[in-house]
Amino acid sequence: MNKVSIEDIAVKGKKVLVRVDFNVPMDKATGEITDENRITAALPTIKYLYENGAKVILCSHLGRPKGEFNMKFSMAPVSKRLAELVDTTVYQAADVVGEDAKAKAAALKDGEILLLENVRFHAEEEKNVPEFAKALADLAEVYVNDAFGTAHRAHASTAGVAAYLPTACGYLIEKEVAVMGKALENPDRPFVAILGGAKVKDKIGVINNLLEKVDTLIIGGGMAYTFLKAKGYEIGQSLLDEERIDFAKELMAKAEAKGVKLLLPIDTVVAKEFAADAENKIVMSDAIPADWQGLDIGPETQKLFGDAIVNAGTVVWNGPMGVFEFEAFAAGTKAVAAAMAECKGNTIVGGGDSAAAVEVLGFKDKMTHVSTGGGASLEFLEGLELPGIAAIPNK
Ligand code: 3PG
Repeated sequence: MNKVSIEDIAVKGKKVLVRVDFNVPMDKATGEITDENRITAALPTIKYLYENGAKVILCSHLGRPKGEFNMKFSMAPVSKRLAELVDTTVYQAADVVGEDAKAKAAALKDGEILLLENVRFHAEEEKNVPEFAKALADLAEVYVNDAFGTAHRAHASTAGVAAYLPTACGYLIEKEVAVMGKALENPDRPFVAILGGAKVKDKIGVINNLLEKVDTLIIGGGMAYTFLKAKGYEIGQSLLDEERIDFAKELMAKAEAKGVKLLLPIDTVVAKEFAADAENKIVMSDAIPADWQGLDIGPETQKLFGDAIVNAGTVVWNGPMGVFEFEAFAAGTKAVAAAMAECKGNTIVGGGDSAAAVEVLGFKDKMTHVSTGGGASLEFLEGLELPGIAAIPNK
């Protein structure tokens, strides 16, 4: 990537404001962090900075507190966990740009870390108000953005602040952009994209962009039924996006014209109702009974998709194949994750639900890259410019 990186700027003795994405899931009852991937993914940048004598001022959002101080969304549990993962002192500020943050930032010694409170405690964050961006900038002398997961948001701490300080990107943004950028620009072939999830609407941009680049496009998950309907199949009570049937037809025609192989489920696990313990059976995709609904891909489809994935030079996956939260309908998603784990090519999991699935199923270490971005990785794969990355100057 041709952006200024942390290694291009002097950080020793400097106060460095680092935007990270510490928006981690937490257990509602206990307040425990349930997945700390986003914290560990930011560690290379944080370590580089404190080991090189910077005074590290971290900032992030957590959840959607809607512009008000609400301790339910405090960063305190994150700084507690961070303190266990680094070899230096971590302080927690009681506010974002107020007296406590200013005093603690001013008192930081070289190599120490301060985590500000949740930037979304101020409504000015999401509105990208210049005065708020400036107040953040005033805490520091250098700005580093490493929040890939929030790079699709043009907020004060992800974009606005770059106007006031020398700016660089961190290692996580560099890695995300390098791996996913290579897949989009110069993939090892065959290039296979596998898209799932419930809604066609959410994936239109990605489908349009990837169709120009891939050799094989695989569509599974809830959105596949709109494509099956577009082929003229009856889909019973399965998810249908009526308004996007024409899009599905056009896409199938376009894929054929371009010589892109389009794979859809050939068999389906159907259920009587949407429930974990619902009565279920396997049927062919063109024989879904009227009062049943498809909740997962069937075993023949697992094999069809799996063969394409195992033999790929590059695979990009976004979206589960079925309702994987229910054990009875998790086999399709597991099969895709297992095929990716077996593939010798570059395997990229584009964040969100599929990243969570790979984690839960224990395949994370077998992937080339599991993105920390949900919405951000989707927008990246759509080929859009992310504001948080656009704000970092070129070398
Ligand atoms: C995410 O979890 O996708 C990012 O942290 C962005 O959060 P947001 O959707 O609340 O902006």
